[in-house]
Amino acid sequence: MADYAEEIKRLKKEKNAVIMAHYYQTGDIQDVADYVGDSLALAQWAAETDADIILLCGVHFMGETAKILSPDKKVLVPDVNAGCSLADSCPADEFEKFIKEHPGHQVISYVNTTAAVKALTDVVVTSTNARKIVESFDKDAKLIFGPDRNLGNYINSITNRKMALWNGACHVHEQFSLEKILELKKEYPHALILAHPECKTVILNVADFIGSTAALLRFATESDASEFIVATESGILHEMRKQAPEKLFIPAPPADSTCACNDCNFMKLNTLEKVYHALLTEQPEIRIDEELREKAVEPILKMLSLS
Ligand code: 13P
Ligand code: SF4
Repeated sequence: MADYAEEIKRLKKEKNAVIMAHYYQTGDIQDVADYVGDSLALAQWAAETDADIILLCGVHFMGETAKILSPDKKVLVPDVNAGCSLADSCPADEFEKFIKEHPGHQVISYVNTTAAVKALTDVVVTSTNARKIVESFDKDAKLIFGPDRNLGNYINSITNRKMALWNGACHVHEQFSLEKILELKKEYPHALILAHPECKTVILNVADFIGSTAALLRFATESDASEFIVATESGILHEMRKQAPEKLFIPAPPADSTCACNDCNFMKLNTLEKVYHALLTEQPEIRIDEELREKAVEPILKMLSLS
């Protein structure tokens, strides 16, 4: 078997390529990446890099966001079929109808959306900056928030807003079981519960800390606590364990204990072998219609300026 990690290192140098990976990628992919981060960081790095090739290890909307921000770069992904159930829950034509049903509203979209949905949006947010960006609007501004209803509900509750919410969700974050988390808590009474805001409200209500993947990581490493139950995709545990090897990180269990449902099956379509092949063949490449890109880039640039 080829030493993919070594070959990837060689190809990166030869092609002036940079590898960016989301925290939900497998540990071996995170370990060959030049940058590992949350969706906001990936967008910021993609906008700034001077590499010729960006290999975005994550899901499709992350590669698309990188291409929208850096149209002159070649943007590759390991597997073009790595989608996102949350982005899929918001088709652009239906979202457009929803916007028309709410005249006078400004549109805030989570980054987990297609370029076509971003093109209908006033400002994009990620879980890291959603609160700050929502609070940048007037207290009584009429706002639409899509597509994640859990994140939308959470932001409504902490900002005291009544944004109209699109009814979408992520299949990974929806399936965490409150009962099983509470059972785990009995077993590990000192463990803090960390939750991503895409989790259902019942989970967020018992969480000791709620935040984006980057925020959960920072909290876990800086906290005085030494045990954590982590309610988000299990890939984040790799970096948590790397940065705080003396601490215990327990993945929050899904309702169905026979499945590995706290793994995002889309994120996990990417493998080290596919990363190698993408760099070698410079395929699959993300391409985007220029007219659509010009519309989609505005709300992303607005987000970056407000972050
Ligand atoms: P982050 O903003 O924490 O990177 O979340 C991205 C994501 O896909 C969560 O499911
Ligand atoms: Fe999309 Fe959920 Fe996977 Fe994140 S974890 S990429 S929101 S399907």
